[in-house]
Amino acid sequence: MTTLNENVGIITGGGSGIGRQVALTLAKKGAAVTIADISEEGGQETVNLIEKAGGRALFVKTDVSKLEDIKHYVQKTKETFGKIDMFFNNAGIEGQVVPLGDYPEDVFEKVVDINLKGSFYGLKYVIQAMLENGGGAVVNTASNAGLVGSPGVSAYSGTKHAVVGLTKTAAAEYAGQNIQINAIAPGPTATDMMERFTQGSEEAHTQVKAGIPAGRYGTPAEVANLVVFLLSGEAPIINGAVYPIDGGHTAI
Ligand SMILES: NC(=O)c1ccc[n+]([C@@H]2O[C@H](COP(=O)([O-])OP(=O)(O)OC[C@H]3O[C@@H](n4cnc5c(N)ncnc54)[C@H](O)[C@@H]3O)[C@@H](O)[C@H]2O)c1
Repeated sequence: MTTLNENVGIITGGGSGIGRQVALTLAKKGAAVTIADISEEGGQETVNLIEKAGGRALFVKTDVSKLEDIKHYVQKTKETFGKIDMFFNNAGIEGQVVPLGDYPEDVFEKVVDINLKGSFYGLKYVIQAMLENGGGAVVNTASNAGLVGSPGVSAYSGTKHAVVGLTKTAAAEYAGQNIQINAIAPGPTATDMMERFTQGSEEAHTQVKAGIPAGRYGTPAEVANLVVFLLSGEAPIINGAVYPIDGGHTAI
């Protein structure tokens, strides 16, 4: 097993779902991690799980739509663990499910503030910290909805396409300075987000699964395995790549 004993990571949205699983896996491999999440309960629970297993973790209450909060999780991580060399830029919300012509403007602004501005400013301030430290690795969370059109979730799809653009551009800007910046594009994955999206309806779950060649959702563990590989620096030539992880959902 690769050990990450010398590494320090930040996980936004680490209080639930995919982010929590990545945090637990990084910590198990020895990394110290900061959990930056708007949910105190979820974030603190992730820290408790890591500490109980003998790992090192810090919770920083963060709303990624607030620039001050982003600067704060960067600063707190540097103060506590000395540096930042892994960043999972992952917090995101789905917004509302409604056609674009009816999309509420306040919800659109909120989705842009969290999914796009939160990702952009996270990149900006973490890249600065990584440059001070000689390099690092970043994974941004896009989505299948960042690769293809997604009827009903225009704000979500628009912001996730933007995350793909940010990833490729930032990778091209910083690959020469030893920073690896890639993105993942998960398909439907078994987390609270999918429960909200389907409103817990069995019929809706069955309908979504019918569109996936694998016939099932991905698990947070499957997504985490890919993210941890990309953050571990095991294949540093990978840069500016966007990985679908979706049971073939976007292959057809
Ligand atoms: N679950 C899926 O099917 C799926 C598919 C593709 C992409 N994604 C993406 O994966 C990422 C993680 O989602 P998940 O499925 O684990 O969902 P989740 O709802 O289980 O977790 C999201 C986490 O983000 C946190 N969060 C929400 N708003 C925040 C804010 N303003 N500031 C800081 N933290 C905030 C939540 O408190 C929560 O802990 C999201 O970016 C999502 O768009 C999920």
